[in-house]
Amino acid sequence: MKVLVVLGTSHKGNTKSIVDLFLDEFKNDEIEEIVLPNDLSEFCYGCANCILKGEDKCPHYKKINPMVKKLEAADLIILATPVFVGSCSSGMKAFLDHLAYMWLVHRPNESMFNKVGLVITTAGGSGVKATTKLLKTNLFYLGVPKIYNYGVTTMKMKGNYIDYKNKDKIKKQVKRKTIKIKKSLKKRKVGIKTKLFYNLFKMTQKNGWNKTDVDYWKEKGWLDGKKPY
Ligand SMILES: Cc1cc2nc3c(=O)[nH]c(=O)nc-3n(C[C@H](O)[C@H](O)[C@H](O)COP(=O)(O)O)c2cc1C
Repeated sequence: MKVLVVLGTSHKGNTKSIVDLFLDEFKNDEIEEIVLPNDLSEFCYGCANCILKGEDKCPHYKKINPMVKKLEAADLIILATPVFVGSCSSGMKAFLDHLAYMWLVHRPNESMFNKVGLVITTAGGSGVKATTKLLKTNLFYLGVPKIYNYGVTTMKMKGNYIDYKNKDKIKKQVKRKTIKIKKSLKKRKVGIKTKLFYNLFKMTQKNGWNKTDVDYWKEKGWLDGKKPY
């Protein structure tokens, strides 16, 4: 089993602490990491080359392509971010922006339909809910059919879970969530919502406006009844 952690901060604080608690539950598995912004400091320029001309035309393709390979290889994808001004970190946002071409509405990557996702969010006071929703939405539109989340409001800057008053509760919650995640990994299935959106976007591709997307769907045979899941 392969676990990929996309850590939206290079700061070793609250977010990394919670990620490490989860990783402890997967210590017998293969773990890969992308740390942001260290591994990708470039913002999306908005050229839309990835969508319109092909992902290899992205100015940052050399950096993004190995990351996509890591996503493809993973069974469990963990997106983890601190809340910064009510949203995810800019490193995480930049990473996700570079994956826009892989959204269901464009060129879904079929490997994504066979994965489980976990969104981890930490905030000082508020913002866990909105940030979790943002990252879950991204994973959903990338095709990940089952997504868990775990958010902590720490009331601490530069914290570490070891210092938290409620650390035993957090540890128990992490263990309980891991049991559910492991069950989902054993019994992977594509849910009705993913199927619904896939079929909706398939209809739009039949008279699609973007040749790069339409050609992709045709090549995959998805417009002739084949399915990516
Ligand atoms: C630039 C910045 C912006 C932040 N914005 C928020 C915020 O909008 N809401 C909040 O509750 N906490 C906010 N915080 C606090 C962090 O979300 C919180 O301390 C988080 O757990 C930090 O994670 P880290 O220790 O992994 O860096 C902010 C912290 C920083 C550095």
